[in-house]
Amino acid sequence: MNPLAFLFRTSLGKKYLMALTGFGLFAFVVVHMVGNLQFFLGREAINRYAYFLHSVPELLWGARIGLLVMVGLHVWTAIQLSAENRAARPIGYKRKKALGSSYASRTMLMSGLIIGCFVIYHLLHFTVQVPEVNFTGKDFHDLVDAEKHHDVYQMMVTGFLQPWVTLFYIVGVGLLCLHLSHGVSSLFQSLGLRTGKYTPLLKSFGFWMSWVLVIGYWSIPISVVLGLKK
Ligand code: HEM
Repeated sequence: MNPLAFLFRTSLGKKYLMALTGFGLFAFVVVHMVGNLQFFLGREAINRYAYFLHSVPELLWGARIGLLVMVGLHVWTAIQLSAENRAARPIGYKRKKALGSSYASRTMLMSGLIIGCFVIYHLLHFTVQVPEVNFTGKDFHDLVDAEKHHDVYQMMVTGFLQPWVTLFYIVGVGLLCLHLSHGVSSLFQSLGLRTGKYTPLLKSFGFWMSWVLVIGYWSIPISVVLGLKK
């Protein structure tokens, strides 16, 4: 069977596809968090970083298209695999028993769906900067710094002073990390890497990485809400 037919037609291929796209999205989430943490280095640092990203359109659009393809394939494989699992389940037992499965693993589809809604909102809020969705009465396009670059620092501070918006970010990022705590360790399993003595190490890698991510991402809105960043 040719590799493309294997990836798109067989259950094992779809599992690989889900694991590979999941890994790509996980890598993006880590890089995006590290980039965002420059918020703590001050206005100049984060604005310069954002300006740099926008000044290389090939990099920006390459990453955007890559992300879109990965999200599309990840969602498609999730729907396909869950339909296949449901079809393979014996008729008559309505409630799936949580035999040894974690809360995160049982809620992957639901957390994934809410994360999707969060990301769409986040793009409208900070990337497209639709004034109606920031609930501050301001247009983020108007925020510019002393160097006449877009003031991303001020956009974050202004954006996170809106309690409902901040709460949505806290919930969205929290669910993302719950999703990753199971997703990262199971992707190693799907790729056949979680074997033998490395199993506990790879399991705890997923767990600890999700804590690093939740703390890293949450630290930004929380520091604004606490008035530590103005
Ligand atoms: C507190 C948490 C977060 C903050 C403060 C934040 C901040 C930002 C900012 C400022 C931008 C716009 C950059 C620019 O155009 O200059 C952005 C874009 C983006 N963020 Fe986030 N982000 C957060 C969480 C997330 C999460 C959890 C995800 C993914 C699950 C994510 C995915 C994206 C994507 C896909 C873009 C669009 C990049 C582009 O194409 O321009 N962000 N984020």
